[in-house]
Formats: sequence, C-alpha cells, structure tokens
Amino acid sequence: MAIRRICKYGEPILERKTRKVDFDAVKKTLPALLADMFETMEAVGGAGLAANQVGVDLRLAVISIKREDEPPVNIVILNPEITEKSGVSHEEEGCLSFPGLFAKVRRAAKVKVRALNEKGLPIEINAEGLFAKALQHEIDHLDGLVFVSRLPLMSRLKLKPALLGLKKKWKKMDESRLNKTDNAS
Ligand code: NI
Repeated sequence: MAIRRICKYGEPILERKTRKVDFDAVKKTLPALLADMFETMEAVGGAGLAANQVGVDLRLAVISIKREDEPPVNIVILNPEITEKSGVSHEEEGCLSFPGLFAKVRRAAKVKVRALNEKGLPIEINAEGLFAKALQHEIDHLDGLVFVSRLPLMSRLKLKPALLGLKKKWKKMDESRLNKTDNAS
C-alpha cells in the first residue's frame, strides 16, 4: 500500500469525464488501487476520493463515512450513477484537490445511487446527509466536475483571488511524500 499524490485544481484530469470500469479487465489490479486510495484518503483526513484525483482515469471512487465511537464505514463505488434525487441541501464542502478551500454547495438532500461494489456486484445505495453529499461530490469528480463549478457565478468570481493564491501552494504539495520510509537503524 502507498499514499499517492493527489491531483490539484488546474490539472486537466480533474476536468475530464472518467472511463467506465470494465470489471474483468481491472479486477487483478483493483484491490491494490483501492487500498492505496483508502490509505491516501485517510492520510489527509478525507471523506471521499475519486480515481481521477490520484491520476487514474477510471469511473470509481471510495468513500469513508465516519461514525461516533465506531469504526468508519468504507464504501467502494464502480461506475456509479445517480438514479433519484430529492430535497435540497446547502452545506459547506471541501475537496482534497482544493486543500484549504471551502464553500457552500447546493445539492440534493437525498440520493439513490446504482453502482458496482469492489467485487463487481451491483449495489443500490439510499443516502442522505453527509453520505448523500459525499456521493454527489465524488460522482461529480468522475464526470469531470469540480465542486467550485457547482457554485453560482458570483461566488466563483469572489473565490478567484483566493484560488489563485492557493494554487501556487498546491503546486508544491505532494501527499505521496507522507509515505513512511524505512529508516535504517
Ligand atoms: Ni473532491
């Protein structure tokens, strides 16, 4: 397992629709990729990570739902599609590809998602609250949409100077350096 570098805003792969997963074609390499994605997400304290955020052009994402006093629930979604949406939520979001930036994004309060799990089996997820928000955020990533593109024009314009400042810092960030190296002793 290894922590991978997370692509930051401005890198083209984040704004391209990802390639559908052919489960049989990827099943041998999938466990290692998923393990790396979970490790990377945990290392930086994220709630979700899409494959294109670690430079992999595949329609898959991992999500971790944190619960009080209990271990987090880890979910893998391959080829996810939202089949139903209802209600409105307008809450603050952040993104591992935009470290340090937060903004309120309008989304559905509840969603139904169809996907395949890590074994290639079909699943249907009914989600609300944080889980619904994470699913929509990650599925957007897989469609090549970053969260700031969901903001109204005025908010995007207001964020522009902050974004430009942060972008300079992001250029130097490489999460893969967080990997524990064996120190010879
Ligand atoms: Ni994100």
